[in-house]
Formats: sequence, C-alpha cells, structure tokens
Amino acid sequence: MDTIVQENGKATLPRLNQPAPLFEAETTHGTLRLEDFQGSWVILFSHPADFTPVCTTEFIAFTELAPELKKRGVELCGLSIDSTYSHIAWVRNIEKNFGVRVPFPIIADLNKEVASLYGMVMPGESKTETSRCVFVIDPKGILRAMIYYPLTTGRNTQEILRLIDALQATDKHGIATPANWKPGEKIIIPPPRTTEAAEERMKAGYETADWYFSKRAI
Ligand code: BEZ
Repeated sequence: MDTIVQENGKATLPRLNQPAPLFEAETTHGTLRLEDFQGSWVILFSHPADFTPVCTTEFIAFTELAPELKKRGVELCGLSIDSTYSHIAWVRNIEKNFGVRVPFPIIADLNKEVASLYGMVMPGESKTETSRCVFVIDPKGILRAMIYYPLTTGRNTQEILRLIDALQATDKHGIATPANWKPGEKIIIPPPRTTEAAEERMKAGYETADWYFSKRAI
C-alpha cells in the first residue's frame, strides 16, 4: 500500500502527472491491485452508495460505455464504501430490473483505505459516502486526469470518453486539444515557449491566428 502524501499533517489529493496511489483491495472480481491493470488505461471511479438511483443510472451508463472503452484499451473499476455482498446484490438487482450486466469490478472500500488515498470523501458533502470521482490512470500508472462531481449530479460518460480520446491523441501526436474537441476535429499545437520559437511558428505553415494560436488536422 502506498503511503498517503501529507502536507501540514493533512492528507492531500493525488497530483496529476505523478504515479497514481497504489492499492490492493477486495472487489467483486476478487482481490485486485492497481498494478494488475498495468499496460491498460484505467478509469477508477467512485459512487456514493449502492442501491441509490443516480448511481444506478451511472452504472448503466458506464456499462454501455464499456465496449467503446475496451476499443481504446481502457478498463473500468468502480468503488464505494459498501461491502462486496452489497455490490453483488446491487449488480444482480441492476441486471434484474434494467437488463444490464455490469462487467467491471467494484472495490468494497469499507475501511476507506483507497478512498483516503485518492481523496474521494468530501466531508462537506458526506463523511460516510464517496463523492462522484473519476481518476484516469495511464498504462504506466501515471494519474492523467481527475474529475470530481457532487453527490447529486450524475456524470456525463460521453465527456469521460472524450477525455480519453483527448489524452490518447495528446500522447500519440504531442498536441493539445481545444474546448469541446472531438476526434476528427483540428487540434492545437502547444504554444511556443521562446521568442525564437514564436518567430518560427509564424512561418511554419499551420493554420495560425497569431504566434501562440496554431491549429492543424491530425
Ligand atoms: C443517488 O445515487 O441517487 C444519490 C446518492 C447520494 C445522494 C443523492 C443521490
């Protein structure tokens, strides 16, 4: 188990572009460690509680998204502060009531060990439930993105897919993506960091509005 990073005696949130906190946890698919996912992208996400309606809609949405994620080499892993028995019963209930079979593991984080490592509990919202957090971890185990939503707002899984597409395009092409970017649209060339590079950029032949703003197709 990784140690919790502390600043001024308080647990801190994990940091982007640093190794994701390591864990070993009991899940609906048996004991899993973060390292078991090495080589795949991982979406580790928390939900407040089993047998709650917004969470149920999210689990259906994540299950519907799973085939698209698989095509992109992404594994899902859920988490809440509920027992494995509760998770099993809820997943069976979702299948019975909604005809949706949840394919990914769900961590039973009864002692909040993983939730603490990732800062998933927001005491201002609830001391006994995890907020709606999403952590995107790359195949090398580096934390690449975090999303935090409140208890009352279900997440947009299309946005999570868009985030994966943007991160993978960034890694493949060394680029950045503009607001609301979708695959097939033009990307942003990261801005020059020296005056010389800025001069060069104006002559580079990209679609350039000014020295700091260039786009191209990929
Ligand atoms: C829900 O999933 O429906 C929910 C959970 C916690 C607070 C509010 C709604």
